Amino acid sequence: MKVLVIGSGGREHALCWAVAKSPDCDELFCAPGNAGIAEIAECVAIAAEDVDGLIDLARERGIDFVIVGPEAPLVGGLVERLEEIGILAFGPSARAAQLEGSKGFMKDLCFQYGIPTAEYARFDEPDAAKQYILRQGAPIVVKADGLAAGKGVMVCRNRNEAYAAIDHIMIERAFGDAGAEVVIEECLEGEEASFFALVDGKHALPLVSAQDHKRAHDGDTGPNTGGMGAYTPAPVVTPEIAGQIMDSVIEPTIAAMAAERRPFKGVLYAGLMIADGVPKVLEFNVRFGDPECQPLLMRLKSDLLEALLACTEGRIKKTKLVWHDECALVVVMATKGYPGWYENGSVIRNVERAGAAEGVTVFHAGTKFANGNLVADGGRVLGITARGRDVAEARERAYRAVDMVDWPEGFCRRDIGGRIVAR
Ligand code: AMP
Ligand code: GLY
Repeated sequence: MKVLVIGSGGREHALCWAVAKSPDCDELFCAPGNAGIAEIAECVAIAAEDVDGLIDLARERGIDFVIVGPEAPLVGGLVERLEEIGILAFGPSARAAQLEGSKGFMKDLCFQYGIPTAEYARFDEPDAAKQYILRQGAPIVVKADGLAAGKGVMVCRNRNEAYAAIDHIMIERAFGDAGAEVVIEECLEGEEASFFALVDGKHALPLVSAQDHKRAHDGDTGPNTGGMGAYTPAPVVTPEIAGQIMDSVIEPTIAAMAAERRPFKGVLYAGLMIADGVPKVLEFNVRFGDPECQPLLMRLKSDLLEALLACTEGRIKKTKLVWHDECALVVVMATKGYPGWYENGSVIRNVERAGAAEGVTVFHAGTKFANGNLVADGGRVLGITARGRDVAEARERAYRAVDMVDWPEGFCRRDIGGRIVAR
């Protein structure tokens, strides 16, 4: 079959890498893709947000199956537009993608259906938001309601920080209209983990757990980013906790979405805070995590294309997945300055050498070829991913490969997986 993957990040490189291995994949396209994806798929320069352009592309190329990587085209209704013209697509409808597209929607749903999450209130007016902060005190968490590329959440240690967050989101409109409304939440303590499941509208197939490193710098300092590294599995998610996450979070959410006539299909990604053995939802995403997808897919032995098709066609209950026993870990290399201002175009050398290291696969994110050189073309640029018998080995292998890359304008965190290894 002819498969089209939408997106240009490390997640989409990993999706293409896994799908290309399937015997059912005859031709692979990616829009817009990147320099790494171009080695295994035909890249077409149409942006992931350009729903009309993607519809035309799928029709013109006779695509059989579309796999949507990022959230924006999902929230923009790409999946139902494809279904209308008879093309199968993996991912939720726009109505179901509201689970990620509006934090207020997600919180109200949890509240209504008894899905465990932090206490909260919604505001569309900055003064009322500040009065609430004054009453509640700190620490407190302020979130832009809409999509903000993982940067719209501020964990505030005192009231002044929280007031500043309100100004930043609602008055300065740092995230545009995504900041017209805010959710203000109780600050939860505990250990964070992500949990992924394939959902076909009615049933769920758990994938694996992972732990993400969201802050830009070592020791979990600096601003929040899309993610600077991750490993899987997350030790905090024991088999018992995984069962509890399925029973108290994933299954009730699927039932709630069906009851709301927003049946959920695709990857349900729950960001969780786990304390005293009880998981609470921090956020839902409606797609694979980036960079979590990279180590996750390195552990998958089964045919990804077949599983995503089964999910799209409502056959997930009969699907079984086989995983490598090993752990996997990704270190993200980003352009200096990310997630703030940075410059594109710096030359990156020795990526092939790093990719040839034992147990390592290098997934590209913001890269392109210019004058015969691989150059940086975005904030997050490479995802150096390694498998190992435990997190310590995967980590050692990943950093050995990171150190082979010759890219003075890049940086990475040096402590991905460090806390686990220290234990
Ligand atoms: P989110 O994008 O909602 O996952 O938030 C980004 C990060 O902010 C999370 O990974 C947590 O580290 C933190 N966070 C979000 N909500 C809360 C909360 N209610 N309590 C404590 N930390 C939170
Ligand atoms: N790495 C976090 C995310 O994909 O949202």
